[in-house]
Amino acid sequence: MRLSGRDMCRKLALRCICRPARPARRYYTPAAPSTLKVLGTDYPADSYTNITPTIISKLSLQLHRQPAHPLGTLRMLIESHFPSFSHLSCLSPIVTPYQNFDSLSFPADHPGRSVTDSYYLNKDVMLRTHTSAHEVETFAKGETKWLLTADVYRRDEIDGSHYPVFHQMEGAEIFEATPSSMKKVEEDNEQLSAHLERSNIVIEDIPHITSTNPAQPSHDPRHSEIIALNLKLHLNSLLLELFGGVAGASKEEPLRVRWIEAYFPFTSPSYEVEVFFRGKWLEILGCGVVLQSTLDRANVPSKLGWAFGLGLERIAMILYSIPDIRLFWSRDERFLSQFTPGKISTFKPYSKFPACFKDVSFWLPDRPETQAKMHDNDFCDLARDVAGDLVEDVKVIDKFTHPKTNRDSLCYRINYRSMDRSLSNEEVNAIQDLVISHLKDRFGVEIR
Ligand code: PHE
Repeated sequence: MRLSGRDMCRKLALRCICRPARPARRYYTPAAPSTLKVLGTDYPADSYTNITPTIISKLSLQLHRQPAHPLGTLRMLIESHFPSFSHLSCLSPIVTPYQNFDSLSFPADHPGRSVTDSYYLNKDVMLRTHTSAHEVETFAKGETKWLLTADVYRRDEIDGSHYPVFHQMEGAEIFEATPSSMKKVEEDNEQLSAHLERSNIVIEDIPHITSTNPAQPSHDPRHSEIIALNLKLHLNSLLLELFGGVAGASKEEPLRVRWIEAYFPFTSPSYEVEVFFRGKWLEILGCGVVLQSTLDRANVPSKLGWAFGLGLERIAMILYSIPDIRLFWSRDERFLSQFTPGKISTFKPYSKFPACFKDVSFWLPDRPETQAKMHDNDFCDLARDVAGDLVEDVKVIDKFTHPKTNRDSLCYRINYRSMDRSLSNEEVNAIQDLVISHLKDRFGVEIR
């Protein structure tokens, strides 16, 4: 299997395959505040409210705007690959479900909308789960070629490569659907192809359009082909620039890139791109031909074009050899002082401190209708809220239903490890006790 189930879940479009939709329910138990202040504004809380203090604390950090930070450098490198594009990076992470989902034609019952998958301030306001949330407003402002970098938020499990906040870069270009404008795109395609042909890159391509990955009915299929090719050529040359020096691209070992058919609610045809790195195919981005309804909503119905969204952490972890996604959030000088603006360097681990795991087993309440239901992501958010980045990963290690009482039992293993120091057993026990007491308060569980 190419992708783990969880990797599949990461992609909004595929969430429906592996996550059942869940009804909204209250996250904070009795003492929930009636309003919450986020980035200076008060929001009334309601049954959707599930944003946690840990997440609120990340909203103003803007790692992608710190010049020496690996995410800042990567943003600048990608921006300089597209010099004629507008470069946007200051948009607020607080958006409406309309921006994040409806404006992009997500169906009303899409699981990505559920409170178990996304962070809501209340039912009308949420944290963007992807940079595509800004497509309509950006096209509506008259931008025709742009890059937009931002922090995005998704509720998820915890491990070394998943974090509830990460950074994406959206890129898009739209063109007038006229013969003369399409001719210019074809000329651009010829130039880009010639450049790639001279370079040491092996591309496993797929047909631009197929019956399962169709052109849109309102598009001339020849235009769709030209746009899809333009998208592929731009991205292949970006990947060559980013990975060419690292992943090989020498005579003996060329850079290998492969294109895969994909599905997103807001593009057709759609693709994913993977890069071969240290013996594995790594998924780097999603992209496609922008759905015409998005451009109609943005008041540019006569245009057509492409868009892509790439994950910056995933790429930075490869380029800098950063082994754990939590490191991006480190304020430790031993991390931060290693980097200079605009330069990719290999991260030198300062040491790996010992891990310490603790298990907690409990019965879920036997009258669940009287309590907030607990989802794996609720457990992870709770652990992260209590223990911060000391949580390295969280796993369910046992799950069963008692045959006589019908009660559900769960056992979670939390792996604690600091990136900066050794943790004492007493310290970890105290944190674990706090996790347990919050668990009891919030979800009414009975510890076994
Ligand atoms: N927003 C998509 C995601 O987060 C990526 C994407 C962007 C796909 C633009 C197509 C076009 O998975």
